[in-house]
Amino acid sequence: MADLHEALRDDVRMLGDCLGQTIETQLGEAFLQKVERIRKLAKAGRQEDNSEYHELLSALGELSEDEVLPVARAFTQFLNLANIAEEHHRVRRRLEDSGKDAPESLGQLFRRLSDRGFSVREIAGGLGKLSVDLVLTAHPTEVNRRTLIHKFDDIADCLKRLDRGEKVQHRLRELVSQIWHTDEIRQQRPTPVEEAKWGFAVIENSLWQAVPKFLRSLDEQLQEVLGEGLPLDCCPVRYSSWMGGDRDGNPNVTARVTREVLLLSRWMAADLYYRDIDQLRAELSMNRCNSELRERVGDVPEPYRALLADVRAALGRTKVWIKAQLDGNPIPAEGVLLHEQELLQPLLLCHRSLQDCGMQIIAQGRLQDMLRRIACFGMTLVKLDIRQNADRHAGVFDEITAFYELGCYSDWDEPRRQKFLLAELNSRRPLLPRAWQPSALVQEVLDTCKVVASAEENSLGSYVISMASQPSDVLGVILLLQEVGIGHNMRVVPLFETLSDLQGAHGCIDALLSLDWYQDYIQGQQEVMIGYSDSAKDAGQLAAAWGQFQAQEELTAVCRRHQVHLTLFHGRGGTVARGGGPSHTAILAQPPGSVDHGLRVTEQGEMIRFKFGIPEIAIRNMELYTAAVLQATLDPVPGPQPQWRSQMERMALRGLKEYRAVVREDEHFVQYFRAATPEQELAKLPLGSRPAKRRTDGGIESLRAIPWIFAWTQTRLMLPAWLGSDSALQEAVADQLPLLHSMYRDWPFFRANIDMLEMVLAKSDPDIAAYYDARLVSEELRVLGSSLRSRLRDSVELVKQIRQQTQLLAENPVIRQSIEVRNPYIDPLHFLQAELLLRDRTQPDSRLERALMVSMSGISAGMRNTG
Ligand code: PGA
Repeated sequence: MADLHEALRDDVRMLGDCLGQTIETQLGEAFLQKVERIRKLAKAGRQEDNSEYHELLSALGELSEDEVLPVARAFTQFLNLANIAEEHHRVRRRLEDSGKDAPESLGQLFRRLSDRGFSVREIAGGLGKLSVDLVLTAHPTEVNRRTLIHKFDDIADCLKRLDRGEKVQHRLRELVSQIWHTDEIRQQRPTPVEEAKWGFAVIENSLWQAVPKFLRSLDEQLQEVLGEGLPLDCCPVRYSSWMGGDRDGNPNVTARVTREVLLLSRWMAADLYYRDIDQLRAELSMNRCNSELRERVGDVPEPYRALLADVRAALGRTKVWIKAQLDGNPIPAEGVLLHEQELLQPLLLCHRSLQDCGMQIIAQGRLQDMLRRIACFGMTLVKLDIRQNADRHAGVFDEITAFYELGCYSDWDEPRRQKFLLAELNSRRPLLPRAWQPSALVQEVLDTCKVVASAEENSLGSYVISMASQPSDVLGVILLLQEVGIGHNMRVVPLFETLSDLQGAHGCIDALLSLDWYQDYIQGQQEVMIGYSDSAKDAGQLAAAWGQFQAQEELTAVCRRHQVHLTLFHGRGGTVARGGGPSHTAILAQPPGSVDHGLRVTEQGEMIRFKFGIPEIAIRNMELYTAAVLQATLDPVPGPQPQWRSQMERMALRGLKEYRAVVREDEHFVQYFRAATPEQELAKLPLGSRPAKRRTDGGIESLRAIPWIFAWTQTRLMLPAWLGSDSALQEAVADQLPLLHSMYRDWPFFRANIDMLEMVLAKSDPDIAAYYDARLVSEELRVLGSSLRSRLRDSVELVKQIRQQTQLLAENPVIRQSIEVRNPYIDPLHFLQAELLLRDRTQPDSRLERALMVSMSGISAGMRNTG
């Protein structure tokens, strides 16, 4: 068995020692010994496969009420520190490897494509058109407070310095101690504006450095392999945001919030550029310039500085102008920079001049970095998407049609709705009645549309309609935006997120594209969003995955037929049951033709930190996205063979039936879910600005996908990832094992799904789940729990048969070992959590409730994700 890298183990040990010393200083040696004993017992329990953990349980049982919280905190903080060390190790390995050609590096890909007969033109042309839009969302899955994240980042920085031989031990001890003495659970939910500011901080602290570095390396690799560099305005990866724009089920995101966030992102961009220009001005002290620049600045000794001083002043005015709006005292927009061109033009002039005067090397330094930043971040850092639920738009039309005494819009059938909307879209008369008092909910939708209409086009992305199913869902939003005077054709994007909506997606888009009015509106560009987690919650993982695949195939065909370019927007979460997993593999597993030079994809919660929080890792992820999208565009894998397709169809049907038989039809299921998992208690964890449910009433269907998965992750039953797949695979393994083997070998879509299933199963643990049942579930419901656990065990065996291996993750020892190493630290948290849930449900106590929250946070850290 490959061992965890020595350097990683040293770092983990050292951080663990720092934590131990801190705990000892505060709580004494005897307490530290207790923690140590618990850890050793948990470790022994795992090693000897002693599933009863008697000794461990009695040690935990002996803890006094005052000791429970610090014990939970000790394990939680250790897991956080282990994560930092692992993350740092990834960076270290990446830097060590950077001299070599990583298999998925862009240079390798260019070479491979050229070997496969693609010309320089095709490759460079493909890259030039590439558009990967990573959409940062405020989805509530980041369990750690920002304050702690900053300290984690500082620890990572110390580890980096330690590798360089610097003496940082004292600072490390100090940071670990700061963490220990800081509450890990927020007191209050963050506001949406705070969430948005956090998104900007990721850009400021990591992406602002990472993007020009990534583009520089892309440029070099292109030069080296193809002899052609990357144009200055070319940026294959850009960023958008939902933070402060996504109001689906989140009443805290109001029109006022969206307006504020739009202004803040513009301010932040102006501020970052201001700082860049300041530095650039300090550097560009050269006196030689071309005639164009001379004409512009006149006879001054330092022409570049003179020009940049003007740019800096304009950025300064821009900041003041935005601030005045934020403060509610707007001033005229005189001499401010609103559009990219206004900032680019003087910088390009400097660039040309430096080149003309033989100072290429200077042109290619900081100045070029800044030009590349502008290509990526524009004048607003990110483009803000808006998201709202289809029902809320229908609600607006209900009130309008009632006012005009036309009946109830929601009761109309689809043809009647479309007829009404198209007539209004073509009409010159305003639709919104003058003497009309809409309800507060409707007013809010309209106010949001007004904010959108008054924003500059360059600050907006798409308007996404969640739970969309019909053309009228899209037409209605376009109409509302027009009614409030929007000056451009904003992308209005249906999000299909239940299985039946995915199945109807192509019909909906076909109907829209058949409307001349609509074709005229979209000007050849259609965007469609695919919802991964809600469809999996609705239909089970396997049926949903197949539904998503087919929907994308069908949408690709429909758009081709109408000669419209399709951009797919993937609403993926971090965890497997929410469509998470390695992006590179996922993109290469898409149906052929569906990745046509680009895609949009959500990046959420803790994944933003994991994937983009550190510049080196962010660069790697941008490379992976670029490589995968370029490859999937130019050289897609062939579509599935007919027998694979029919086998998949059979399995999806079976999976759907079996999943729903439990989740929807078993009368005990909801009760069991509520008893055995911390679902109800999770809602109290102040993770994000939005509530855990779309509605306050209702059962599983009203629960959002994130807490649904979060809850099952905490107990390690991991039900959403495998329920339904188990029965489908069982039947297939019994009848068609060789076929499954060939599907696994030759069909990236199937392989990706099995690999993801394998990964989740490796993190599952039926013994832990059984303990929750034993503590929390009534006799009557335990039968269901035990049948689910035996199905989980079967799933493990089935995956092993398909993978033709005797152990899960046999080919991925690093991940397997990382899970194994963590288990002894997570186990005590599970046992404490089950106990705390029991007590909280019978005799709520604020001290114990805090410990419960900490246990949730610790288990999430141990599992490396929440929901
Ligand atoms: P949503 O996202 O609930 O906002 O649609 C689900 C997810 O990210 O898993």
